[in-house]
Amino acid sequence: MSAIAIKNGHLIDPSAGIDAPRDILLKDGKVAEVAAAGKLKPADGAQVINAKGLVVAPGLIDIHVHLREPGQGYKETIATGTAAAAAGGFTSVAAMPNTIPVNDTPEITRWMQSPERGASVRVFPIGAATRGSKGEALNDFAALKAAGAVAVTDDGHPILKDSIMRDTLAAAARVGLSVIQHAEDTRLTVGASMNAGPVAFRLGLRGMPVEAESGLVERDIRLVTELRSDKVHLHVAHTSTAKAIAAVRQARRNGLRVTCEVAPHHFLLTDEHVGHYNTNCKMNPPLRSAADRAAMLEAILDGVVDAIATDHAPHASHEKEVEFERAPNGVTGLETALGLCLRWLHGEARMPLGRVLSLLSAQPAAVLGLKGRGSLTEGSFADVVIFDPKAEWTYRAAEGKSKSRNTPFDGWAMQGKVRWTISEGRIAYEAN
Ligand code: DOR
Ligand code: ZN
Repeated sequence: MSAIAIKNGHLIDPSAGIDAPRDILLKDGKVAEVAAAGKLKPADGAQVINAKGLVVAPGLIDIHVHLREPGQGYKETIATGTAAAAAGGFTSVAAMPNTIPVNDTPEITRWMQSPERGASVRVFPIGAATRGSKGEALNDFAALKAAGAVAVTDDGHPILKDSIMRDTLAAAARVGLSVIQHAEDTRLTVGASMNAGPVAFRLGLRGMPVEAESGLVERDIRLVTELRSDKVHLHVAHTSTAKAIAAVRQARRNGLRVTCEVAPHHFLLTDEHVGHYNTNCKMNPPLRSAADRAAMLEAILDGVVDAIATDHAPHASHEKEVEFERAPNGVTGLETALGLCLRWLHGEARMPLGRVLSLLSAQPAAVLGLKGRGSLTEGSFADVVIFDPKAEWTYRAAEGKSKSRNTPFDGWAMQGKVRWTISEGRIAYEAN
């Protein structure tokens, strides 16, 4: 296999505590050497990337994406979704099981990882927790794990019943898998299409109360407490409310293994952005109040949030161009996450660059236990993002790699331009 030498760059590897000029040699899909600037041993035939003025960092990891295959290739395919990932600086994505059919078998889990899918970055399937994600009968977690699944979830739907969620947490713990909960008490959200509050009232739409999320997070934490095992791991997907974050914060103080992620749209936008029924601002959980948005940002800054995850959820234009209540939930996110995080978390909120990158690489790798990812120490996978931290640009959805255009961030100013994304030693994206 080929080798790549990345020279003259500024390495930021939060997991190794490095924030300094370094040269790196990638060989046979792994990091072969990290050397002081100019001190890399010559490697015959290695391609040289000149990263002068650029940041070199572990490839980004998104633990919550919808790649739509099998079954809905008109929205996205594993090939187009991972091309979007690579363009956004991501080298690993964890793919949700709400496909058609639902990924509740080892066969589908393997199919998603097969080379024929044409993925340009690593895809880690997440298996369905229950058969058909119907919340009734548990799947065979050991078999899903053996096929490559890195967690279980019924994302898109909650695991609602107490007994089923308890059994899911216990069974997943026995085989060493995390349980990712889409926390929505669907008994409180029937017929609702946005956040409950004055905006929903004005638009004449039924609203989802914050308690639909926080109530289920509190219930889940109670179950984790009762199970009394440090092997039990609950991960709260797309956390959107101050109340849910408060519950996670308390669970952590109590020493429980409870982690959470927040999506860029939930710390940047509020339900006011729905404006006049903009379906590109419709997702589940919905955009919340200004107070909730502020709480997400605060929790990111103070370290309660373990990972930024996009919940990349592509939908075709014809599906979104309908009445608000009929439009499907979801927004794309892979091509905007880094640019938004650099602009708003680093640029505006003054979060150190290393901490921002950690939330997008080392920490999500730790949440799902992805070994050899999220770090550029010698022997790690050669997953690298090289970006210009100073470059400012405007995101144009029409020019994206994703098949879908359903983003609330079209026309937004971004900071930090990806120049190269390298996945397991291969160039997956190169800016032109
Ligand atoms: O906005 C969302 N989109 N929320 C979900 O729970 C599912 C997802 C999708 O699959 O489109
Ligand atoms: Zn979800």
